[in-house]
Amino acid sequence: MTDKKLKTEPYKGVRDFYPEDMAIQRYIFDMWSKTAESFGYERYDASILEPSDLYKSKGAENAEIINDQSYTFIDRGEREVTLRPEMTPTIARMVAGRRRELKFPLRWYSIPNLFRYERPQRGRLREHWQLNCDMFGGDDYSADVEIIALAYQTLINFGATPDMFEIQVNDRALMTRLYTAIGVNESAISAITKLNDKRNKIDTETYRNELVSIVNDETLAEEIIIMLDKSDEQTDVIVGLAELGINNVVFNKSLARGFDYYTDTVFEIFDKSGENNRSLLGGGRYDNLTQMFDNDPISGIGFGMGDVTMRDFLETHKLLPSHLKTTAPTLIIIPTDSALNLEAQKIAQFLRSRDIRVTTDIGTKKLGKKITDAADRGVIYAIIVGENEIKSNHFTLKNLEHNSEENGNIDELSTIIITNKK
Ligand code: HAM
Repeated sequence: MTDKKLKTEPYKGVRDFYPEDMAIQRYIFDMWSKTAESFGYERYDASILEPSDLYKSKGAENAEIINDQSYTFIDRGEREVTLRPEMTPTIARMVAGRRRELKFPLRWYSIPNLFRYERPQRGRLREHWQLNCDMFGGDDYSADVEIIALAYQTLINFGATPDMFEIQVNDRALMTRLYTAIGVNESAISAITKLNDKRNKIDTETYRNELVSIVNDETLAEEIIIMLDKSDEQTDVIVGLAELGINNVVFNKSLARGFDYYTDTVFEIFDKSGENNRSLLGGGRYDNLTQMFDNDPISGIGFGMGDVTMRDFLETHKLLPSHLKTTAPTLIIIPTDSALNLEAQKIAQFLRSRDIRVTTDIGTKKLGKKITDAADRGVIYAIIVGENEIKSNHFTLKNLEHNSEENGNIDELSTIIITNKK
């Protein structure tokens, strides 16, 4: 132990949520739940702790996330434990665990916090929350259309317009067919996909050289580049989205996604403002993930949408409502003297039974200062309690928003507050 004073900053790459940040977080989460539920998705959750094996078995392996980015430790019982870096293996575990009782197709959502040991930067932190919407047992391409339409609708519900963002779609199965058609060996495809993942972060020459070293053939590398850059594909999913009126969609053959478990459709959504280059969300179809628990695969498709990138997007496009309130109480009871503190609490207790959010002031500041502080916090009403008010059972209700007053007994005043709330 030392006498050195501790810093008040949170741990690297994680955030504190003071009430004003919490108000924004809550607004985002509420909109996420509302949208997911409007599509008939049911909420689930799980612990942040998972046995590390969940991320190591075949199908779930993701070298970067687990080798370089996971928070893994050995517990006191010698078990290897990981703070979940994503929710998809967890939902696959839960669905596989009850596969016999559950009704398919099944639609679930969750808002978990996830931990990744990343270098903190804009849009990337070590702890973030992520809306996860997934469907299991929906094999038809209309499931892909639905899940992307849900992602789209979430942004629209926040007030975004389609020109503010772009949906990029790719299809791994289709890409495999296109690669093999021009003579690429199947074993090289996953290396090419990984290279494509960083294609827009490296220059053309480096990309070309790395491609040549993967396929060992300069002409073939040229053909791959031509094939990737040709925008001639129309998939059922893109046509389906257009039928729902969703047109800000492009087919991007270089879109890779960092997870090995995706099998068919993959997609990401990007902010078009140029301010935020990290994807707002990413997802795809994974047909084999439940196979690590059971031989019978159940198909899954879903996405994750992060709160950090969501807030950046909303701030960039000025979509956050200005009136977002902290969870301040509706009413404050202010005694004129500390001898009346308990009287104030009695009145507060009665008003809470009428479903009003009430606090009392037990501070020692001057009355005027107490009232302005309360108004600054977003409190709407104040009742001043002195000897005379208690004796006469006649109180003044101050409306701090409109600077107006009403008089009456506590019962009458509570009715005014309740009626105004409606
Ligand atoms: P992901 O692409 O790793 O996918 O993450 C999805 C979204 O989560 C990203 O687009 C971004 O908004 C946010 N995100 C990811 N990492 C961070 C970070 N370090 N800091 C802040 N935000 C971050 C998945 O996790 C898949 N499991 C999604 C999924 C669900 N696929 C199917 N179902």
